[in-house]
Amino acid sequence: MTKIFAVPRGTSDILPDAVPLWEEIESKARKICKSYGYKEIRTPVYEDINLFKRSLGQTSDVVNKQLLELASSREDEGYALRPEGTAAVVRSYIENSLDGKESLSKLFYLGPMFRGERPQKGRLRQFHQVGVEAIGPNSTSPLLDAEMMALAMQLLKELGVRDPKLRINSLGSKEDKATISTWLREEFAKHKNELCDECQARFERNVFRVLDCKKEGCRQLVVSLVKNLPLSAESQHYFNLVQSSLNSIGIVFEVSPHLVRGLDYYTHTVFEITAEGLGSQDAVGAGGRYNGLVHELGGSEKVDYGAIGFALGLERIILARSPGLSLPVGINAFVIAMKDEYQPQGFLLLQQLRNAGISAGMSFSGGSMKSQMGKADKAQARFALILGEDEMKTQMVAVKDMQLGTQESVTIKEIINFLKTKIES
Ligand code: HAM
Repeated sequence: MTKIFAVPRGTSDILPDAVPLWEEIESKARKICKSYGYKEIRTPVYEDINLFKRSLGQTSDVVNKQLLELASSREDEGYALRPEGTAAVVRSYIENSLDGKESLSKLFYLGPMFRGERPQKGRLRQFHQVGVEAIGPNSTSPLLDAEMMALAMQLLKELGVRDPKLRINSLGSKEDKATISTWLREEFAKHKNELCDECQARFERNVFRVLDCKKEGCRQLVVSLVKNLPLSAESQHYFNLVQSSLNSIGIVFEVSPHLVRGLDYYTHTVFEITAEGLGSQDAVGAGGRYNGLVHELGGSEKVDYGAIGFALGLERIILARSPGLSLPVGINAFVIAMKDEYQPQGFLLLQQLRNAGISAGMSFSGGSMKSQMGKADKAQARFALILGEDEMKTQMVAVKDMQLGTQESVTIKEIINFLKTKIES
């Protein structure tokens, strides 16, 4: 028997019926990002594997377990499909000296990301993100943190996600992170046996991850510790300003000392947005500051860069959308030639409609009026344009409004203007 191929595990086809929804989401996302002054950037879907190792951290799950490496016959090169967009945007920012072109680069991207995860509801190997990044010399302002979160929340709301919840935390500066990491290790060492197996390993690799462990034993240990994390006064002050900036524009949030995030590059503000209806994978988006990453990837040491961003998962947004928000998928007009010999005239009309920006279809196999009307219905056409014997003689078209059931005759010369006025009204 011939082998029937299946889509790779953890990926999916977006079939024609679903594409209008994706188009709507993408175009809304672009419009909203642009309204905040962000410009689109497109980077390759694969990059030097070391870019990800260096930026996301050797100890992060994404690098440790999920990078999808591309096989190469050359020993001096190694590539991986991008698991996220931030590292590539920073790579491009440095490579193209964007800091010399503008004081703050406000960039967004849309596209597929790849992680070799164990697939489950809302967790895929190929998924799509809309991501936003703001990077620039001396651009560390709490207002920018608040603006980022406001943009993320507006995107989610306008894309139809019900009641998204924003949680925020601060990991402090690079120096704070080092102090906190040492302090946590000392504290956890006193109770190491009470940690779950996974956290005993995390304890060595990345002690921060113990803070967001959901297991009861770890959680109890962590609850008392998170209240006393040694965050410097300066970082605490910055975090307070972020919170007052959010309050000043009416963004509702919760401070969650457990929130640490799985990627190494974060400093100061981190945030996560969850929504209902997603099961255990309930984060529709996440982000934070990563002030040190431009230096880490080779940006000028003389400049003090600030950077912050977030990404939203489009598949999770679709899962979390209010039901009933489906979109019309039909076309504007369906041309019906009642006899085969009228087909050339019908074909010409079809092409003229398309040239005028009116979406249109036609049955090339002809058939009875009934069967062609059936096809117009199936294509969800707003109008059927019928060319019968009378119409051919008088150079007219019978225009049937498929929603109202009404019909009127229009000259072929006038048909495009006639339809345009109807469609736009
Ligand atoms: P992340 O938290 O790894 O952050 O991913 C952001 C969002 O992408 C998640 O909240 C989720 O909605 C979606 N996502 C992640 N992994 C999967 C998956 N396997 N299947 C389906 N959806 C998924 C980042 O990627 C950072 N680059 C965000 C950022 C930008 N931070 C600063 N700038």
